[in-house]
Amino acid sequence: MKLFLDTANIEEIREINRWGVLGGVTTNPSLVAKEADDPERVWKEILTEVEGPISLETTELEPEAMYQQGLDLAQMAPNAVVKVPMTPEGLGVGKRLTDEGIKINVTLVFSPAQAILAAEIGAYIVSPFLGRLDDVASDGMDALRTICDIYEIQGYDTLVLAASLRHPMHIVESALAGADIATMPFAVFKQLVKHPLTDAGLEKFLGDWKALKQELEKGA
Ligand code: E4P
Repeated sequence: MKLFLDTANIEEIREINRWGVLGGVTTNPSLVAKEADDPERVWKEILTEVEGPISLETTELEPEAMYQQGLDLAQMAPNAVVKVPMTPEGLGVGKRLTDEGIKINVTLVFSPAQAILAAEIGAYIVSPFLGRLDDVASDGMDALRTICDIYEIQGYDTLVLAASLRHPMHIVESALAGADIATMPFAVFKQLVKHPLTDAGLEKFLGDWKALKQELEKGA
């Protein structure tokens, strides 16, 4: 399972990219708006920083305008993936873009039925939102498991991207469910690496090493 960052903040992206595990980035209009900068500049910086797929979301609702915007976003860089919403218009435009050889990510997916539609238009990625389902007392992980099972049974090539993840166990369970990608905020990415026993173990190892050095220096 590839690990993506769900952010438009270049500093967060650079920090995680240094770990060598960053597979790609997902952005959405809310995340880009948080940067309070020209969206094109924000997207370009991310597209250059990370080699993997970078999702850039359309904001037009009228099909022709959404299609033109999709074409513009796609030509920004070879690793650009165009996000379209799970609506009748988004599906129609997504199919047209896919037919042009453009990689699309169908976003705002909340049910297995919607995920089937995304696969049927040949989407590159489908994004079920787990956390937002949990927020309305539904079971996001159960929806993800069902989507992964259906894709396996049907032999769909569309990659399942577990989105709206809120804590490390969301990532662990997404991997177990068979998701191809998990995208998460910076704070959750940082939680993945942390374990109190790692910190305690390192402190002890370094303490013992320092004590050895001091002993040797005394004896010299
Ligand atoms: C990713 O593509 C989605 O836009 C994102 O994961 C949504 O997450 P949120 O529910 O935390 O806003």
